[in-house]
Amino acid sequence: MTTPAVPMRLLPDGAAVETDGSLSIASCRVTDLAEEFGTPLFVYDENHIRSRCREAVNAFGPDQVIYASKAFLCTAMAKLVYDEGLLLDVATGGELYVARHAGVPGDCLVFHGNNKSLDELEMALTAEGGSRPGVRHVVIDSFDEIDRLTELRKRGLPVPRVQIRVTPGVQAHTHEYIATGQDDSKFGFNLGNGDAARAVERVNETGCGELVGFHCHIGSNVFAVDSFAKAAEVMARFAQPYELPELTLGGGLGVAYTLDEEAPNIASWGNVLLDACASLGLSSKIMVEPGRSIVASSAITVYRVGTVKDIPDIRRFVAVDGGMSDNPRPVLYSSGYEAFRVTDVAAERPDHARLVGKHCESGDVLIFDAALPAGVKVGDLVATPVTGAYGHSMASNYNKVPRPAVVFVADGRARLVVRRETMDDLVRLDLP
Ligand SMILES: Cc1ncc(COP(=O)(O)O)c(C=O)c1O
Repeated sequence: MTTPAVPMRLLPDGAAVETDGSLSIASCRVTDLAEEFGTPLFVYDENHIRSRCREAVNAFGPDQVIYASKAFLCTAMAKLVYDEGLLLDVATGGELYVARHAGVPGDCLVFHGNNKSLDELEMALTAEGGSRPGVRHVVIDSFDEIDRLTELRKRGLPVPRVQIRVTPGVQAHTHEYIATGQDDSKFGFNLGNGDAARAVERVNETGCGELVGFHCHIGSNVFAVDSFAKAAEVMARFAQPYELPELTLGGGLGVAYTLDEEAPNIASWGNVLLDACASLGLSSKIMVEPGRSIVASSAITVYRVGTVKDIPDIRRFVAVDGGMSDNPRPVLYSSGYEAFRVTDVAAERPDHARLVGKHCESGDVLIFDAALPAGVKVGDLVATPVTGAYGHSMASNYNKVPRPAVVFVADGRARLVVRRETMDDLVRLDLP
């Protein structure tokens, strides 16, 4: 049985099939991009990202959408989402540094993390560029963090606006490694055992922060809108008596990666969250932190095939010049992907192979059972769509493979936004 061509809905908005059958994005031919910038290569459709940012701002309102930069961050990305009016969620001192380096003012940043160090908190409380020092707010995740903020207050640092991260006890239907809303979680204060309420008391007693709201995030790549509705309801009920001005309901909206997946769009996610809160009469400003749904389907990764190995009656392996170092999601979460050949993107895919990388592990798999067009051979350009989130941001140098370059394409022009790592980069931290 043959598998149909990769559907256009999995490709960036600006994807088109040229008359010779090959793929272009934003009027840039992907074969030309591979020639110019090399492979593996992340190609992001800039207008696609802008359109998802606008969809989110339309659904929730200005100042209410915080881009979760862990999904994909570089200087150009931080500039782009800031330019679209989004705030940025940064979860480490490193992410904060990159966002500030891009010129995002401190008061447009939200500082996250389950184990923020004293130094990182100090960075957050003194971040510059806004109308006052410090980030827009810190999301407090633990009692130890309350102690650290109290210590910084005693030292005379600015007192931050804070939200308290609550674990609502809602099980999201997603992989266990990216589910965060259940009681057994390293994140936040449990609502069920009274820790969340105790955290409010501690913040008020210590004066370590100005409490402006609550936060929850039940998990990532969640498709079931009823999980979001349930969490919103639980949080709205908890938050109501405190009458605080803000409630953040996390990110987590899933995206389709494969032929058989369908995901809700940002607008319907917005309706579910806002309706759940409105039906309980909550008047707080509702904020969200989408990452994946803003950026995942805006990008593809382009690889060059290097070896094809047939083991009769067992399987065929097609090996490309990247792998688990540029996309660890299949290995981490058994995530599925599609693949296609760049030069005949609309071709049916009758062949099957395991699409693997170049790392020294049998587990270095991009697609366990990839449907591919007939006759994929050495030298072909093969691409995987929907790699814009948690690909480059999770990339490593395993086996000392240099991390790929990233290009943004828009209106027929490509610009390099992250250059490919060089061999020199691989030793730049080493001392003799
Ligand atoms: C606190 C928090 N907010 C937002 C997100 C973004 O989630 P997603 O990329 O699934 O939208 C995450 C990701 O895990 C998160 O931990």
